[in-house]
Amino acid sequence: MSTKPNVGLVGVGHLGRIHLQKLQQIETCNFVGFYDIDHEKSRQINKDSGAYSAESLQDILEKSDIISVVVPTHDHHKVGKEVLQSGKHLFMEKPLTETASQAEELVKMASERGSKFGVGHIERFNPAVQAMAGKIGNPMFIEAHRLNPFNPRGLDVAVISELMIHDIDLCLYFTQSEVTDIQASAVQVLSDKMDIANARLTFESGCVANLTASRISPSGMRKIRLFQRDNYLSFDLKEKKVDSYSLVDNNFDDKALKGFSTSFQYGETGKKIVFHKPECSVYDMIEEELRRFIDAVISDSKPPVTGEEGLAALKVALEIERKAHESLEKINPGL
Ligand SMILES: NC(=O)c1ccc[n+]([C@@H]2O[C@H](COP(=O)([O-])OP(=O)(O)OC[C@H]3O[C@@H](n4cnc5c(N)ncnc54)[C@H](O)[C@@H]3O)[C@@H](O)[C@H]2O)c1
Repeated sequence: MSTKPNVGLVGVGHLGRIHLQKLQQIETCNFVGFYDIDHEKSRQINKDSGAYSAESLQDILEKSDIISVVVPTHDHHKVGKEVLQSGKHLFMEKPLTETASQAEELVKMASERGSKFGVGHIERFNPAVQAMAGKIGNPMFIEAHRLNPFNPRGLDVAVISELMIHDIDLCLYFTQSEVTDIQASAVQVLSDKMDIANARLTFESGCVANLTASRISPSGMRKIRLFQRDNYLSFDLKEKKVDSYSLVDNNFDDKALKGFSTSFQYGETGKKIVFHKPECSVYDMIEEELRRFIDAVISDSKPPVTGEEGLAALKVALEIERKAHESLEKINPGL
């Protein structure tokens, strides 16, 4: 596609409104407007933003080359299918769909119709993750904590598909390996779905990941720690920073590293540990995510997070949910 693509938006709730602002700013596309089933909200947003409010999904589809779908998860499949049936490129928020078969159908449709299909796994665009891109070789152990204060939005799915899926996607990305075994447990507290969950994933590569997610925490935390043979990375995804500790030979020149660094020598071992705080760029993650998807459409290249990757993360999330249900049943039969 040589000219600027026309981009439309479906769903202008909490996250959709942010997509709207970002799409209005991205100069590589023409933002054509939005459609939301809530007419009152649509009128208000049209008034506030000046963006065109479409009367129907059909209307916004006709005006767009690319559609960003930011509706609740239970409508992802229905809306995504209409987008792909109309031959448009699709950016879908996470989790991709409610079931794996729905996601498989969308992936197949996109591939048959030649539509680009991207998924909103936003942490891939975290500056701390981007700073380490291409520098993660063979993780042996990963530990993730994603704790959010209670918020009534997003309760239509369990905490695993709502929050843990971000860390599942990162683990699949970091290891580039498939999950071979899952152990999980969860607790249902305030909503009618699981609100706290813990999962231990074993990957084909041998890596083990221990993931914890909660949506009823008094304070927020998004941390992921990754251990490799000679390196330990500690990501603070909330602060968008990463600390790196590497075991190197004594003659390694850590002053050549970009960003703060210092080193600790260990007696006569010939080795030292270099502590390094790599420079992390400062940018808006949602704008970057949308910009990179639009770039993929323009240059006819692979989206940064593909429909297949969204499907892979969803399958692991659903299997964690199934295993967690089994363990809940064991503890509280009939729940
Ligand atoms: N990537 C992230 O970190 C992240 C963060 C928050 C939400 N999300 C995802 O974004 C999606 C939306 O979440 P939200 O918090 O903005 O929800 P929300 O409830 O605030 O907004 C959803 C909007 O979609 C509209 N809508 C519902 N069904 C529709 C349909 N069929 N057609 C058109 N409009 C429709 C609603 O009227 C509402 O305005 C969810 O899938 C959620 O998982 C992702």
